[in-house]
Amino acid sequence: MLKINEIKCESLNNPIGIDEEKPCFSFYITSDNVDTKLAAYQIRVFNNENAGDVVWDSSITHTEECISIKYNGAELCAYTRYYYEIIVWDNHNQTAISIGKNYFETGKMGEGWKAEFIGPSDKKEIKYDRVPFQMRKEFRIDRKVLSARIFASALGIYKASINGNTVGEDYFTPGWTVHEKRLQYQIYDVTDLLQNGDNAVGLTITNGWYHRYTNWLIWSPQDKWNNQICGILELRIQFDDGEIQIIKSDKDWKYGVGPIKMADFYDGETYDACEETPDWCKVGFDDKNWKNVKSNLYSKNVLCSTTNEPVRIIQRINPIAIIETPAGETVLDMGQNMVGFIEFSVSGNRGDSVILLHGEVLDKYGNFYNANLRSAKARIEYILKGDGVERFKPQFTFHGFRYVKVLNYPGILKLSNFTGCVLHSDMAKTGDFKCSNNMLNQLHSNIVWGLKGNFVDIPTDCPQRDERWGWTGDAQVFISTACSLYNSKAFYSKWLKDLAADQSSDGAVANSVPNFLFEEDGSTTTSAAWGDAACICPWTLYQYYGDKKILEDQYSSMHNWVEYIRKQGENEYLWDTDPQLGDWVALDAEEGSYTGATSKHYIATAFYAYSTSLLYKAAKVLDKESDMKEYNQLYEKIKAEFHRKYVNSFGEIKVKTQTAMALALKFDLIEKNNHKIVTKQLVELLKERNYHLSTGFVGTPYLLSALSDNGELDIAYKVLLQSDYPSWLYPLTKGATTIWEHWDGIKEDGTFWDTNMNSYNHYAYGAVGSWIYENIAGIKPDENYPGFKHFFINPKLGGDITRAGMNYTTPYGIVKINWEIKNREFYLDADIPCNSSSSVAMPNGEMHEVGSGEHKFKCEYPHQCN
Ligand code: BGC
Repeated sequence: MLKINEIKCESLNNPIGIDEEKPCFSFYITSDNVDTKLAAYQIRVFNNENAGDVVWDSSITHTEECISIKYNGAELCAYTRYYYEIIVWDNHNQTAISIGKNYFETGKMGEGWKAEFIGPSDKKEIKYDRVPFQMRKEFRIDRKVLSARIFASALGIYKASINGNTVGEDYFTPGWTVHEKRLQYQIYDVTDLLQNGDNAVGLTITNGWYHRYTNWLIWSPQDKWNNQICGILELRIQFDDGEIQIIKSDKDWKYGVGPIKMADFYDGETYDACEETPDWCKVGFDDKNWKNVKSNLYSKNVLCSTTNEPVRIIQRINPIAIIETPAGETVLDMGQNMVGFIEFSVSGNRGDSVILLHGEVLDKYGNFYNANLRSAKARIEYILKGDGVERFKPQFTFHGFRYVKVLNYPGILKLSNFTGCVLHSDMAKTGDFKCSNNMLNQLHSNIVWGLKGNFVDIPTDCPQRDERWGWTGDAQVFISTACSLYNSKAFYSKWLKDLAADQSSDGAVANSVPNFLFEEDGSTTTSAAWGDAACICPWTLYQYYGDKKILEDQYSSMHNWVEYIRKQGENEYLWDTDPQLGDWVALDAEEGSYTGATSKHYIATAFYAYSTSLLYKAAKVLDKESDMKEYNQLYEKIKAEFHRKYVNSFGEIKVKTQTAMALALKFDLIEKNNHKIVTKQLVELLKERNYHLSTGFVGTPYLLSALSDNGELDIAYKVLLQSDYPSWLYPLTKGATTIWEHWDGIKEDGTFWDTNMNSYNHYAYGAVGSWIYENIAGIKPDENYPGFKHFFINPKLGGDITRAGMNYTTPYGIVKINWEIKNREFYLDADIPCNSSSSVAMPNGEMHEVGSGEHKFKCEYPHQCN
């Protein structure tokens, strides 16, 4: 039977708050028939639930395209829920209609805000004390409410409340953006929280990303963080008689403080239950001691709708052990390095206080360790009110931890009193992998947990120490792996808007987005491989999700970045100026340096060429003919200059590092007939280290495919499967459950790399995931048919692996692959989604072109390894 699935508007299920004038729809089809393709669709959009007026009828459109179908009807009105239905026809003359209610609801669509940004009147106390403020207002309703929506945002982070209830389940709204240009607002349906008669509405705000404290970086380098925290809220109530009432944040609101004495992403939260005022947002609360807020605190022009998934509690895990350490500490082991916080129950006397400290690893003696958090205290303090069983979880902080040191817990500490709440952006999981090698399965799990922990509204470097920033280099390194595991389209698209918003007028892309790092002369701090996220990320998203709009939206950012590089230095075709971060934390770095041995200018020129090639490809997709010509020529010239400078007369690369060879091969910077020579150089270098890697952030993502694409699959497997230092699997032998920042985060003797920069949850080296999924599972996108319209199935057998499988949800549907070597035969089961096709390569060289449906293949496999 033909069915329509995963119906989305602007990449989200039934979104509330669409401000796009022409939102895009997507879906995929499934069917029991093999070789099924979409033949036509019709989308009809109505302005009410009961198929009211048709505001758009796409009419029957004959196409196989089902990604990003642009609305093309009457002008959409603000504050309106539109319902839509989709009818599809396939190539077997089957038809299907969407079931259930599919809708999108518009936000303000550019309509102004009646509310004002309000906040406490004393600027100093808010900024530095980190005490969340509660602001409130009462109002009356005297008619039947049809619907009610809260529109809210903040400089800082906020939670809204109505009549004693917290609104929504999201954390850390409005998220982190370049707030001086784009500050997202959220919309919540609060119809059910209102009551006839008197009501109360409230807003709690605190610093969040806006003011943070580190002892090594002073915020507000350019005064951009100097406003006081403030929030804005508009409650729009629609009555059944058609009238609208707006309750808005303004100077009439009052503010006070509640039980949270301190809240900070780095330092944690202090909560005094003795000072709880549970009724602060209920009718009749006595607010006579509360002060009047200040209003008009920030410009409303920067407010824009939310386009990514909110951060939520996605999973709960239970601790696996209570450890009494040699130092006499009581420590909970969560069994997994996780990101979020602990929810716990406790009973004791009024005034007792429980303290939790968070750490990622134990030291070599088995004692609690958190020195690698640097100045971040990651400390929770809960002061009991002494009222039976009390249950607590923080609201405005998160930590990265596996171990929790518990201090002063009154009574008997039981495992069942503690739960780990795992927080991250609520993206759909799309990929799962398993194989016969358990170490690789654990590595895959570590990669997934690295993603979860570093996808807290923006892609971060790490989730635990006093950093947690949107480093652009880390993001581009990991993006293909991320797209293989979770639907990361909305998440990265939102962040790329900020990348572009933060791009300086000369095109420089910040090393970290949202940006706050500037050179002394005020220019944006940038570097090759970091700034190149501007080109690599949109292109990767286009490959995985097949949506041209990503390229349309980011094209000028891509273009400006390439032009920025072009203007650096004397030679238009090289990038040979500083500062550059180089091959960050590579093992061939000099003692005391974070930068690996590969020449920084070699890396810069290689990435210049690579970004230019991607810009050329984007221009081609978008039919920008003159740019196509321009950037193809530029690419060829950079390549020629690269060759002149870095390739000797034997066709060898002069910079002799693993990273240098990997980049030359992967970015196609050398002549085809020199590939063999450079591959040989790479193999020699690996041999010198007994087939162990020495690459840093820059080279690691490309190392294995540089080998496997050039006839050295066995060596790629050898490097991947090493379990002694340095290797991907070595950290597993030290108990790692996430990816480490350093290959030797914990050394063989149990000591640590350093306290200064030693994260145990840094996803960058997890970039090997995409090699594993493309080569071991064997699913690879086809650049010419983005979004897996056509893709390759080509498991490359090697190592000791006898079995592998992956389920992966593409924009066209779910691909399932399972292969096994049994009795000298290779078996492959492949499920291809409708409207898509695949080229299947078998280990004996056979090729099969297949359409949708389940396929089984078999061939002899003489190189038996089980
Ligand atoms: C971060 C990295 C980042 C680097 C660049 C570090 O502190 O943790 O992941 O890319 O700085 O300078």
